[in-house]
Amino acid sequence: MYYTLLTGATGGLGMAFAHLLAKQNEPLVLTATNAQKLEQLQNQLKEAYNANVEIYACDLTNEDNRTQLFAYMQQKQIMLHRVILNAGCILEGDFLSHSIETNLQAVRVNVESAVHIAQLALSSRNAQEPFYFLTISSLAAAYPMPHMGIYAATKSFLTSFMLSLGEELKHQQVHSTVFMPSGIYTTQAMVEAIRSQGWAGKKSSLTAEQAASLAWEAHKKGKKLVIPKSFNRFLYKASKFASAPTLAQVVGKRWAKSQKQRKGEHYE
Ligand SMILES: NC(=O)c1ccc[n+]([C@@H]2O[C@H](COP(=O)([O-])OP(=O)(O)OC[C@H]3O[C@@H](n4cnc5c(N)ncnc54)[C@H](OP(=O)(O)O)[C@@H]3O)[C@@H](O)[C@H]2O)c1
Repeated sequence: MYYTLLTGATGGLGMAFAHLLAKQNEPLVLTATNAQKLEQLQNQLKEAYNANVEIYACDLTNEDNRTQLFAYMQQKQIMLHRVILNAGCILEGDFLSHSIETNLQAVRVNVESAVHIAQLALSSRNAQEPFYFLTISSLAAAYPMPHMGIYAATKSFLTSFMLSLGEELKHQQVHSTVFMPSGIYTTQAMVEAIRSQGWAGKKSSLTAEQAASLAWEAHKKGKKLVIPKSFNRFLYKASKFASAPTLAQVVGKRWAKSQKQRKGEHYE
C-alpha cells in the first residue's frame, strides 16, 4: 500500500485536499505544525470516510524536523507514491516591514522545504513504481510582485524547480504537476485581499474545495502545469507580452492600492 504525503494539511486548501483524497480511499500522511489540529482532522477523516490517515506534526522550516518526518515514515514502514507540496507561507506586505527572520521563514517554507522533501521522497521511493508530485504554486509566480515580493519569487522558484524535476526524471516514472491558482478563499486575510480586487478578484478566485478538486483532476490526468479559470489563463498569457520591469510597475501599483484600501488608508 502506498501513501500520499500532504503538507499544510490543516490549512484551508490542505483540509480540502485531505477530505477529497480520504473520500477516495487514498492512504494519507498529513503534516502541519499544529498537532492538535492534525489530530482533530485525523478523527474527522476516520469518522467520515473510515480513512487510513497517519499524522506527524513538524515545522517545515526546520531541517531536522523534515528529516525526522521521513524517519518516522520509515520506522512505520510507510511507503510514499505521492507528495502534495501544499504548505506555504503567504507573506504579504513591504519587504522592510518584516523582520529578517520572518522573510527568511517564508523562503524556508516555500522553497527550502520543497527542495528537501522532494529529495527525501525520491531517495526513499520504490523506484520500480511511478512517483507523483502535486505542487501548489500560485499565479503570483508569473510576475514580480512588489509588496509581496518574497512570496511571488518563492512561487516562481517552486514552479520552475518542480517543472524541471518532472522533465528531468520522466524516464524514471516521476510525474510532476504544478498548480497555479490565483485567489483561494481560505484565510480571513486572503478573503479580504480577494475582495479588495473587486470584480477581478471574483473572476479569478476559487473556494478551497473547487481548487483542490481542479488540481486533483488535472494531476490524475497527468497535466504538467495547471492554471485554473480562463481569466487567470488570460492574465498569464498577457504577462508574457510585457517586460518584467513594466509588469513589476503595474502589479506593484495594483497591490499597493489593495493593501492601503484594506488598511483604510488613502491611495493616490
Ligand atoms: N489562499 C490563496 O489565495 C492562495 C492562492 C494561491 C496559492 N496558494 C497556495 O496554496 C497553499 C495553501 O494555502 P492556504 O491558503 O490553504 O494557506 P493556509 O490556510 O494559511 O494554510 C497553510 C498551511 O501550511 C502549514 N504551514 C505553514 N507554515 C508551516 C511550517 N513552517 N511548517 C509546517 N507547516 C506549515 C500550516 O500549518 P500550521 O497552521 O499548523 O502551521 C497550514 O496547514 C499555499 O502554498 C499557498 O501559497 C494560496
